[in-house]
Amino acid sequence: MKVLVATEKPFAKVAVDGIREIISKAGYEFALLEKYSSKQQLLEAVADADALIVRSDIVDSEVLGAALNLKIVVRAGAGYDNIDLDAATSKGVVVMNTPGQNSNAVAELALGLMVYAVRNFYNGTSGSELKGKTLGIHAFGNVGRNVARIAKGFGMNVLAFDAYCPAEVIRQAGVKPVDTVEELYRNSDIVSLHIPATAETIQSINYKLLNLMPKGAILVNTARKEVIHEDELIRLMSDRPDFKYVTDIMPKSDMKMHELFEERYFSTPKKMGAQTAEANINAGIAAANQIVDFLQNGNTRFQVNK
Ligand code: 3PG
Repeated sequence: MKVLVATEKPFAKVAVDGIREIISKAGYEFALLEKYSSKQQLLEAVADADALIVRSDIVDSEVLGAALNLKIVVRAGAGYDNIDLDAATSKGVVVMNTPGQNSNAVAELALGLMVYAVRNFYNGTSGSELKGKTLGIHAFGNVGRNVARIAKGFGMNVLAFDAYCPAEVIRQAGVKPVDTVEELYRNSDIVSLHIPATAETIQSINYKLLNLMPKGAILVNTARKEVIHEDELIRLMSDRPDFKYVTDIMPKSDMKMHELFEERYFSTPKKMGAQTAEANINAGIAAANQIVDFLQNGNTRFQVNK
């Protein structure tokens, strides 16, 4: 049995060493493809792999078609919108994620982006503080919950909206649940996005919703670029010189936004929310253990294409 780790954006070395150890101890062969620059390299590497660990790497029907022995793909992380679930299901390939394993890292970055924005991108001018501001958490999953915990430490008022999470769960975390997404945006100085990219959410963050936010609003995106309606965000930021956008996922219009909204727009050059040694170890080791448990015991607890 061969387990391939294929990560265009590599894990920390300590995480790779840990994965290798788990795979080798289980008696499987370990293979590593890092920083690959063409899809062809991935297609060649998966040809004889029985199991695959990826991050945001695209696993489409072509990749799945080239992986003739593949039984399982584990996305070491939360969002699995990079994997063609239907193609995997039709080929009998199990797909899993590792929920919660990298969420603290992403949450810490979200707060870092908030500080950066309220301090005017560290340009030396007088900014403002997070304490006393209202933060709206859009979706109360693993990352949203960690953002709430840290934001409370900053002294922020924290609201959350999640169509799929009972209000009671939000309340128990010491956060105020709101009934509608409009109410969240209307009442939040800063909104932090933690929704996955699904048919329902893609381009759902639009002009109408964002324009509900109060003067001086900040939108923080550590989720996915696809959830933003980019043209409408640009139109909104043109109409509202008070509005800031900070993101960990570079928009298609990055250059244009830099030109138009200097000092109100920031994007990391490469998604780095989960790029910490701790998150790499947590997610990478979980992925390796899930593969061994699946191949040896048939455990499908984290399967997302059931
Ligand atoms: C996730 O969905 O887990 C995060 O977006 C992190 O993605 P990454 O592994 O590509 O950094």
